[in-house]
Amino acid sequence: MSQPTIESILQENRTFAPSAEFSEKATVKSFDEYKALYDRAAADPVVFWEELAKKELHWFSPWTEGLDWSNPPFAKWFVNGKINLSYNCLDRHLDSNGDKPAIIWEGEPGDSITITYRELHQQVCQFANVLKKMGVVKGDRVGIYMPMIPESAVAMLACARIGAVHGVVFGGFSADALRDRLVDAEAKVVITADGGWRKDVVVPLKPAVDAAIAKGQTKVETVIVTKRTAQDVTMESGRDHWWHELMATVDSDCPAAELDSEDNLFVLYTSGSTGKPKGVVHTTGGYNLYSHITCKWIFDLQEKDVFWCTADVGWITGHSYVLYGPLSNGATTVMYEGAPRPSNPGAFWDVIQKHKVSIFYTAPTAIRAFIKMGDEHPNARDLTSLRLLGTVGEPINPEAWMWYHKVIGAERCPIVDTWWQTETGGIMITPLPGAIATKPGSATLPFPGILADVVDMDGNSVPAGEGGYLAIRHPWPGMMRTVYGDDNRFRKTYWEHIAPVDGKYIYFAGDGARRDEDGYFWVMGRVDDVINVAGHRLGTMEIESALVSHPAVAEAAVVGKPDDLKGEEIVAFVTLEGTHTASDELMKELKKHVVKEIGAIARPGEIRFADALPKTRSGKIMRRLLRALAAGQEISGDTSTLEDISVLEKLRG
Ligand code: WTA
Repeated sequence: MSQPTIESILQENRTFAPSAEFSEKATVKSFDEYKALYDRAAADPVVFWEELAKKELHWFSPWTEGLDWSNPPFAKWFVNGKINLSYNCLDRHLDSNGDKPAIIWEGEPGDSITITYRELHQQVCQFANVLKKMGVVKGDRVGIYMPMIPESAVAMLACARIGAVHGVVFGGFSADALRDRLVDAEAKVVITADGGWRKDVVVPLKPAVDAAIAKGQTKVETVIVTKRTAQDVTMESGRDHWWHELMATVDSDCPAAELDSEDNLFVLYTSGSTGKPKGVVHTTGGYNLYSHITCKWIFDLQEKDVFWCTADVGWITGHSYVLYGPLSNGATTVMYEGAPRPSNPGAFWDVIQKHKVSIFYTAPTAIRAFIKMGDEHPNARDLTSLRLLGTVGEPINPEAWMWYHKVIGAERCPIVDTWWQTETGGIMITPLPGAIATKPGSATLPFPGILADVVDMDGNSVPAGEGGYLAIRHPWPGMMRTVYGDDNRFRKTYWEHIAPVDGKYIYFAGDGARRDEDGYFWVMGRVDDVINVAGHRLGTMEIESALVSHPAVAEAAVVGKPDDLKGEEIVAFVTLEGTHTASDELMKELKKHVVKEIGAIARPGEIRFADALPKTRSGKIMRRLLRALAAGQEISGDTSTLEDISVLEKLRG
């Protein structure tokens, strides 16, 4: 190995095999079956994806070439094929499943609606006609800034139906963050709501749209407003229109446009650690196939399942697994407007009980919040409808995994720990729940057709047990196609970090990982967050997991602080479980605990107790800010994605 990568120090040996009963009914039933599928796909990935595309999706006309990779890193999948995602999500289910619930929606105040496939189809067709009436044509960008209500799904599907490119901006973002994204995407129309419910208060949305447009530079000509909270909003005549009024002026006949497989489907912004947000571009055919098949196999979708992915539609997880994946499969998807909140600590478990949710997919940050709220809340509900659990968004520390397994899954439900990114379009590394035994904290093995590896800077595989860069060696249908308006940034950010090997481009994801002797992947966190102690490069995840495995600790984030002697010293920010209080004793004990769990190399030099950690709105810890705090520096760079700015003030103390 020519470059030092990342040292791996965590040892986790527990293994959990799926029950015979689960495996028997699963789509992929055994490890051997997975292995055969994986090997066949790896031998010729393009043929593998072509077979699936033919079998799983409706095409208006077939493609002429499976993959065009003649101009890397710009891939084209199913070249010249004609397809429509909204058709695959709606029209093709009408005959067989028109009366099946497509969306079960639960509002935060407790209101709820069930929408069948037929009803959803009708609303989408109607709203697509509204968009056309407002002058939206194929290729136009449409901003969507909405709460988690069925209208967001309708808006997205309507864009997809006519080939307009949606750019969903999470409803919790500020007017400034919204404006940056609308400007970058050159959006012509914005769809919003008067407001939405979040943690017991009404979040005003329309005023933020007004403020974003007032700041100038957007190309927005039309704003469509749906009524959710019914508070007063200002409507600018000529520009602003009520959703319900427009819907009353159109009919519901709107055939799905025959779009090109490579027509842009959506742009979704991810914030890099610095600089302006990147508009990740996904196209139609490849994304449709990838979100569809990953959803089907990983969540083992069966006819009667009620699938609840708790992500907001403002994130990629909401795109792929609240909306497009489940609907393309004709499944029933749950949309929930609320967030975990202290005023109603049992809210999530109520939703599961009420709607008999069978598959539950959430994030480690939510799981840690549930742990802190107490077992009595899930224990007081009937969760026996659950048969499968999932997590996404961050490495899950084994402690939280075990809690999820025992308290929510009753030691009966497999857990799929799914590694992927906005850029990958769908899940990349994951257990197939009937086939692959899980280990707490590991995303296990790559999905068939995904040639994932852990490599050094030169693209050589690193040996088992050694840390390195998590990379993908072959294009896949769900991959992002470019950064909106910036091909160069796309090439630089994802394809040039690791040198192409023999002219073959390798996708680098930004994460560190290692594989164990069984080939299982252990994601160690973002490589930007790696800490260098006395020449040892340590991932943050493993030290944080060690801290969280102490009964007093609820959450932990570790960062490096410059140190003359060691290069960097480890500083740990720690929040405590309800009944524990900060003390020098506890600090000493925690340091000792890390040494016992991992070794002296990982001993934190400093431990700081905090009420809360700074997180992005999708729940990821912002270690960049903690690094600045630990080093006593001013915080610079973008903080607009921070969920709660007061957390930072408190930490600064
Ligand atoms: C992290 C979310 C470990 C990782 C779908 C990745 C994970 C980033 C996992 C992408 C997981 C996501 N285990 N780390 N199961 N899932 N990550 O774009 O660092 O919001 O690069 O997409 O989240 O975040 P994004």
